[in-house]
Amino acid sequence: MAALITMPRLMSVGGGALAELPALMARLGLKHPLVVTDPYIARSGILDRATGLLDKAQILYSVFSDTVSDPTTEVIETGVAILGDGNFDSLVAIGGGSSIDTAKGMSVLFANGGSMRDWKVPATETDEKMLIAGLACCPAAAIVDYELTLSMPYRLTADTGIDSLTHAIEAYVSRRASPFTDGLARNAMGLIARHIRAACAEPDNRAAREAMMLGATTAGMAFSNASVALVHGMSRPIGAFFHVPHGLSNAMLLPEITAFSAPAALERYADCARAMGVAEEGEGSQAAVARLVDELHRLNGDLKVPSPQAYGIDRARYDELLPVMASQALASGSPANNPRVPTADEIIDLYRRVYA
Ligand SMILES: [Fe+2]
Repeated sequence: MAALITMPRLMSVGGGALAELPALMARLGLKHPLVVTDPYIARSGILDRATGLLDKAQILYSVFSDTVSDPTTEVIETGVAILGDGNFDSLVAIGGGSSIDTAKGMSVLFANGGSMRDWKVPATETDEKMLIAGLACCPAAAIVDYELTLSMPYRLTADTGIDSLTHAIEAYVSRRASPFTDGLARNAMGLIARHIRAACAEPDNRAAREAMMLGATTAGMAFSNASVALVHGMSRPIGAFFHVPHGLSNAMLLPEITAFSAPAALERYADCARAMGVAEEGEGSQAAVARLVDELHRLNGDLKVPSPQAYGIDRARYDELLPVMASQALASGSPANNPRVPTADEIIDLYRRVYA
């Protein structure tokens, strides 16, 4: 079956790429953007650099910087109201993931109307992290400038790094993987596995930052076309109920879910071990997969990823929510892409296994 691939039309990738913002807008014929970002980026000087470029190019814009982490439907609807009030022809999102996600949500709502809940995949009840999909989520242009990550703190570097590694692994083992996404995913796994520790330990290590940014980008291109799987499916309810940052809740799950899933796709997981450089030359698939699971546990240890218990999640509350967490995980559709598709009871068992 042919794979359907969506990508930005333009990408500017490399140190200093931010400076290309006015040129990219000109190539797309865009003249009046609403800039979407968060209060941290607004204070950090990065927003000023972007708006300085727009000023210099005499591009008129407005700024919406009141986005929140784990974007709510309310924030997105506020943004859409601002978008509707001006004569904007484009959105420029400056991330953090949450402000980029907010802009995507605004784009979907503005293009299609209705409320955010109408665009959830699949449609269900409230109080959960919604997966939103559709072409309006894909930007016309992307700027990937690793220099903007040099100031990222340790925890964020570690968590977003493991999130990106999870994107690559899940895209590779996904039932919707294709030869096109496989290459991107393997590339990402190699870059991230070899550079994540240095990027965390040495924040000014430009080579490590650049490799991580490239890895995150190719992993993103892989999973947005091959989808994510069980780790992301189970991660969203942990994030929604206990306010664990997205990358961290993935990290808590990744080693155990890999061990659970690997028997159903041994060769694919062995390829992951090889792409990450943790398997020995000529080693069989079973041994390579064992090394992969070991490495994922070791990585969590090295990067100080807490268990849900160590993070402070109350055991009784966790246990009480397990059935609804499992049903939300399944309803998101992501577990259906996993090489081993779990039952609700198996998901509950996996949640219990990662708790301590
Ligand atoms: Fe993710």
